[in-house]
Amino acid sequence: MSKKKILIWDFPVRLFHWLLVICLIGSWYTSEGERGLTDIHMLFGYSILALVLFRILWGFIGTKYAKFSQFVPNKNELTQYVKGNKDYLGHNPLGSLMVFAMLALLLLQTVSGLFMSDEIFTNGPYFDSVSKSTQKLMATIHNNVFDIILIVSALHIIAILFYLIVKKQNLITAMITGKKWVENKLTSAGIPHSKLLIALVLIAVVSAFVYWLVVLNIPEVEVYYY
Ligand code: HEM
Ligand code: HEM
Repeated sequence: MSKKKILIWDFPVRLFHWLLVICLIGSWYTSEGERGLTDIHMLFGYSILALVLFRILWGFIGTKYAKFSQFVPNKNELTQYVKGNKDYLGHNPLGSLMVFAMLALLLLQTVSGLFMSDEIFTNGPYFDSVSKSTQKLMATIHNNVFDIILIVSALHIIAILFYLIVKKQNLITAMITGKKWVENKLTSAGIPHSKLLIALVLIAVVSAFVYWLVVLNIPEVEVYYY
C-alpha cells in the first residue's frame, strides 16, 4: 500500500517540546544552592513558565493536533485505547493525560519557585511579599513537585521507548520533523502549515507577560541597615 508523509506536529509544538527538555535539565542542574547558580536556575524557571503559558494558549488557538479539544481524554476513549489497537495521529489518550499532568505540574513548580529563597543571597521575586507560612508551603511544593515531574518524565520516555521497541512505532522522528507516514487515503488529515505568524505574536505576548511578572511587577522591598 502506498504511503505519504503529512504534517502532524506544528513547528511551535516541536520547539516547545525540545526547549522544555533543555530548560528542565538546566533548571535541575542549577537547582543545588551550593553550586551558586541560583540566578541561572531562576532564568531557566522563567523560561519554563513562558513555555508552559505559551503551550496552554496554543492548546486553544494552535493547529489541529496541538489543540486540547483534539485530545481531551475521556473514560470511553481510555478504555478503548487500553483494550484495542487503535492508532492515533495526534496524542493517544494516555499520552494526553501525560500532557495535561505535565503542564499542571510545571505550572505548580514554576509558580512556587517565584516564592522560593536559597537562604543565602538569592530570593525569588515574590519571596518577600508573602507570610512565613506561605513561604514554607511554597518551598514544600517546590521541593516535592520536582520529584513527581521526574517520575512523569521517566514514564513518558519509557512509553516512547515501548512504542519504539515493542510496537515498532517511531514517535520520536515526528516530534523532530513534525511529519508522519500515513496511507494515501489519510493525506487530508495533515495540517496545512504551522500558523507561525500567530505563534510569533503569542510568543511576544507571553514573554512580555513573564517579563512584567518577574521584573516590572516586583514589589519594592525596604532594606534596613543596622
Ligand atoms: C520548572 C521549573 C523549575 C524546576 C524544575 C525547579 C527545580 C528546583 C529544584 C529541584 C530545587 C532544589 C530543591 C531542594 O533543595 O530540594 C529548586 C530550588 C530553588 N528554586 Fe527552582 N525550579 C524551577 C523553577 C524555579 C523558578 C521559576 C524560580 C524562581 C524564581 C525558582 C527558584 C528556586 C530557588 C530560589 C531555589 C532554592 C535554591 C537552593 O535551595 O539553594 N525555581 N528548584
Ligand atoms: C524531561 C523530559 C521530557 C518532558 C518533560 C517531555 C514532555 C512532553 C510533553 C509536554 C509532550 C506533549 C507535547 C505537546 O503536545 O505539546 C511530549 C510529547 C512527546 N515527547 Fe516528550 N518530554 C520529555 C522528553 C522526551 C524525550 C527524551 C523524547 C524522545 C526520546 C520525547 C519524545 C516525545 C514524543 C515522541 C512526543 C509525542 C508523543 C505522541 O506522539 O503523542 N520526550 N513530551
